[in-house]
Parts: sequence; structure tokens; C-alpha cells
Amino acid sequence: MKQIVTIAELRQARKSLLAEVGLVPTMGALHDGHLSLIETARRENDYVIVTIFINPKQFAPHEDLEGYPRDIEGDLAKLQKAGVDLVFLPSPLVMYPEGFRTYVTVKEITLRLEGERRPEHFRGVTTVVSKLFNLAQPDRAYFGQKDAQQVVVLRQMVKDLNFPVEIVVCPTIREADGLAMSSRNVYLNAKERESAARLFHALQEAGQAYEKGERDPELLRTIALEVLNSDEIIRTDYVSIVDPSTFGAVIYQDDPMLILVAAQIGRPRLLDNCLLPWGLNTQEGLSTILGTN
Ligand code: PAF
Repeated sequence: MKQIVTIAELRQARKSLLAEVGLVPTMGALHDGHLSLIETARRENDYVIVTIFINPKQFAPHEDLEGYPRDIEGDLAKLQKAGVDLVFLPSPLVMYPEGFRTYVTVKEITLRLEGERRPEHFRGVTTVVSKLFNLAQPDRAYFGQKDAQQVVVLRQMVKDLNFPVEIVVCPTIREADGLAMSSRNVYLNAKERESAARLFHALQEAGQAYEKGERDPELLRTIALEVLNSDEIIRTDYVSIVDPSTFGAVIYQDDPMLILVAAQIGRPRLLDNCLLPWGLNTQEGLSTILGTN
């Protein structure tokens, strides 16, 4: 596995990859969720490039940039074992040299939910991912369902800026009790960790009501909200049901819906979501509805 830290080296290395390339952009502290993206990329491409870069431009000043979990040694061992061909580990100065002034902004979708709460966040994501696409020139890029809004924003960017990249969306990987894997889960103490599983239980309850025929987004939302409200450790930020292609209100109740939850549990703010009907939460369903497949 080649480790690369400069842009010149990455460009050079990319020239020698003469078949299909899958890119898995990450911020490190890799868990089984990342490894499943890499495994899928490995299966679908001839070469796999992973990037590890804690992107300062997607953190607000009060967020956890400094304390974001880091484990480079552990990450490299996992990537080696997963059969990754090339890992790109740039420094902030390599990505954003003195005088950096260009940003990529997607309108509208970025103003809702996560974008409303974290105003600069998506601009940081689209800027860094467009740079990574330009550098790695992948055929496919792999993202997790957990950050569903990020995926839909990136899909819009790929479409609008004509990046020749397929966005593949892989299902959220969960702990045994349903908690979505996230690098930030390490911040949870034992009691918070127990409560955190309720995010998934809230989605499941809504999913079960949907399976029984309930289609009213407001009723489905209330069912999920009640599960979260029954635990005093959980500070619910939002439970929202949206049209997955626009992140706006659901118009046709028979079309797929996306239910999203965000909550502060102790130090971390955790996210989770699922498509309804539940059967769509597969790589194929997710990539069709949220990605470019
Ligand atoms: O999802 C993430 O880990 C990040 O937002 C990404 C896509 C690597 C961009 O920094």
C-alpha cells in the first residue's frame, strides 16, 4: 500500500492506475462502517484509493476539530489489511495552501436540517470532495448512508459540475443494538451509549408503522419522536421526514421517504436515518435513491 502526502505524488501515482478506480474519502478513526465502504470499493473497482483528511473547513469554530478522534497507526494497519492500493494523507496546508480562495457551494439542500444547524459545513464538504475528485479522478466514490444529506448534496455537485464520478451509497453499519457506527461514538460514556441505541429504535418504530400502512409523515415523525423523548439523556435536535431527492416536504406519500434523526447525547451529536419503505436500505436502493446509480 502506497502512502502519499503531496499532490504531486498523488497525481503521479494516479497516472499509473490504468483501470477503474474507487475512492473512499474519510476523516480517519476508521471503523467497520468505513471498512464496508472499502470492501465494496474493492469489489467494484480495480484499484482503491482511500483519503484520510480531517477537513478543517467543514468544522465550525465551536465544533470538535481539535478533539476529533485520530488513530493514524491503527487506520493504516486496517487499510493495509483491507487491500487498499493507495492512501492519501495530506496536511491542511497541502489541501489549503496560503492564499486559498475558491469554494464550491450547493444551494438549497444545504440550507435545511444539518445545513441550517451547521452553516459552513456543507461548503467545506463540497470544496474538499471536489478537490479530492480532481486529484484522484475516481470512477466511483463511496459514501455511507448515515450522512444521507451529505450524499445528496454531493450528488447535486457531481451533476451540476459534470464530475464523471458515480456516487455509491452503502448501508449504515450498526453495533449489535442498532447504534450506527460513527467515529464520534467513542465520546459516549456507558449510560449515554445505552441511550444512543434509541436513535435506531425510533427509526424502527416509524418503519414498523410504515409497514403496517401508515403514510402520514407527521404521524410517523411523532412515533419516532416519542421514542427519543422517553429517554431524558437524549436531547433531540430534530426528527424529520423528507422527500429524499430534495430534502423538502414529502409530496406523494406513496413515494419513498427518508426519516432522519439528530440528537445530542452527552458530548457527541449523533445522526441516523433510514429510507421508507425499509426494504430500500440496501446498497442498490440507497444508491438509486440518494446516489447517482
Ligand atoms: O463523511 C466524511 O467523513 C467527510 O465529510 C468527508 C466526505 C470525508 C469529507 O471530508
